[in-house]
Amino acid sequence: MKPITTHPLIRYNNFRKDEDFHKLRGKWIVVEGPDRIGKTTLISVMTQTLSKANLKVLSNGFPRRETYVGEIIDKTLKSKNDYKIISGKAQTMLFLADMMDAMNSIKNFLKNDGVVLSDRYTMSTYAYALAQYDDIDEEWIKDAISLLPKPDLYILLTPYSNSVKYLTRRDFYGQENTETVEIQEKVLKNMLRFKENNDKVINIKLQDKEYISPEFTFNSFILPSVLDYF
Ligand code: TMP
Repeated sequence: MKPITTHPLIRYNNFRKDEDFHKLRGKWIVVEGPDRIGKTTLISVMTQTLSKANLKVLSNGFPRRETYVGEIIDKTLKSKNDYKIISGKAQTMLFLADMMDAMNSIKNFLKNDGVVLSDRYTMSTYAYALAQYDDIDEEWIKDAISLLPKPDLYILLTPYSNSVKYLTRRDFYGQENTETVEIQEKVLKNMLRFKENNDKVINIKLQDKEYISPEFTFNSFILPSVLDYF
């Protein structure tokens, strides 16, 4: 019988020391993926794990709906009429303005050796703009997002069969304009395209099994890839 410690899942779950996490200090990691894939849950599990390892963690997410710009974005995402009134390019610039406003706090935190975990960033800007607006082409959106600093790593979560359909069964699906299978399929395709042209992306394909806990997914699949990357 193999010694128990060679089992990959046991190895990843139980045998990490605080020093294993030191290379994440001063790093900015963004979690991306289509709607309802589990980004927010993953950020909270990551925050707990890294904090337990004595790292300082700032977790944030875009859009920040509670700020002045974020409140406008929130309205446009929820209200079908407003959504049509504002043009795709203007909407995109609002998302970027919100990110620019957060940059000082992110940079200061990184400078002090903290880890910043963001729920969405410019991969979402790229993927959602191209999925929705005919007057936005790849060159325009690439120029627009180049106004912002790049993170150290994007973790792209994708569904197990590369189909977004099962995500529509999740609670409250459909409350926002972008939560349709048609848009989400395009978003997923665009995110994978973003990955092709960017070496700072790792793609984690999630398992079908709903009973696999986020902690298990994080410790067994995501954390080893992140630590290997840096
Ligand atoms: P969330 O708060 O559930 O992640 O939803 C934010 C919505 O905003 C989601 O539909 C994706 C969309 N979005 C964009 O269209 N462009 C962006 O730049 C960002 C950050 C989000």
